[in-house]
Amino acid sequence: MLKIEHVHRRSKRRLAALTACSLAFLRQRIVLMRIAFVGKGGNGKSTIAGTSARLLAREGQPVLALDVDTLPGLAFSVGLGGIPDAGLPEELAERQEGKGWVMRDEVSAETLVERYALAAPDGVRFLQLGKLPGQVRPGSTTAFRHVIESFRAPGWSVVGDLAAGTRQGFFGWAGFASMLAIVVEPTQAALLSARRLRRLAETMPGTRVGLVINKVRNDTRTRDIQAALQLPVWAEVPYDEEVADAERAGLAPIDAAPGSRSVAAIARLVLDLRNSDAEEPTA
Ligand SMILES: Nc1ncnc2c1ncn2[C@@H]1O[C@H](COP(=O)(O)OP(=O)(O)OP(=O)(O)O)[C@@H](O)[C@H]1O
Ligand SMILES: [Mg+2]
Repeated sequence: MLKIEHVHRRSKRRLAALTACSLAFLRQRIVLMRIAFVGKGGNGKSTIAGTSARLLAREGQPVLALDVDTLPGLAFSVGLGGIPDAGLPEELAERQEGKGWVMRDEVSAETLVERYALAAPDGVRFLQLGKLPGQVRPGSTTAFRHVIESFRAPGWSVVGDLAAGTRQGFFGWAGFASMLAIVVEPTQAALLSARRLRRLAETMPGTRVGLVINKVRNDTRTRDIQAALQLPVWAEVPYDEEVADAERAGLAPIDAAPGSRSVAAIARLVLDLRNSDAEEPTA
């Protein structure tokens, strides 16, 4: 009798271990998202990246939100407000003869996130490149780059908000991403930028590229935008006064206007991308 109970207990433990394993596996396969938002200045990268990070976190998965922009904006849309700086400490890296700037000690990107990333609402962890214009901090930049290149904590999603324009995303600063979302307003200038970004994205093989058309109005011809850019439209986010109001108040759209049409559209974007095989490259 004792023996049978013992066997039962053992198989129960094994079953629990197996279930935990499969859950971890499923989480990595299905839920993991590594996405970088790029686009012309003011088109809505920070708004959409911050809201996406919060929505992903609400599904109960760990999320790292990276503000790769040197003019920070993601802190507001993720719900941290006007924090002074969430950059990595300067002393993590040093300049070495013949090597340039390198990490001072061997420290994993996961450890850096654990130690230094700020806790944002819904459990999002937040890191900022944090370099102010005119105040270059090579040590912090080197450490941040280390996170961009090697953060691979199992089951974590990474949402990055890149600097406006075309330069940054294509010098390795989107290296964490398996998906590149080009945020584009329905204006001719934004279309031109998006076209350049699409061409540059072709130099990142294995990265899925799609459009998020933002500030869509009734008369916006999204089909024309899609045809001009020859990319799949991942989402259409309506022009939404509630988002603009949130911005004026320094609040995250998801906190100030959780029921708004734009937050709903971003929720659909997250759901669609999560359900598509996020790790399967199509480009
Ligand atoms: N769907 C929307 N409807 C109305 N206003 C919006 C929408 N999305 C963003 N905005 C507003 O547009 C402005 C720019 O948005 P945001 O800061 O997210 O853009 P960005 O691409 O990150 O800009 P930057 O390149 O300067 O970092 C903000 O005032 C924001 O509130
Ligand atoms: Mg921004």
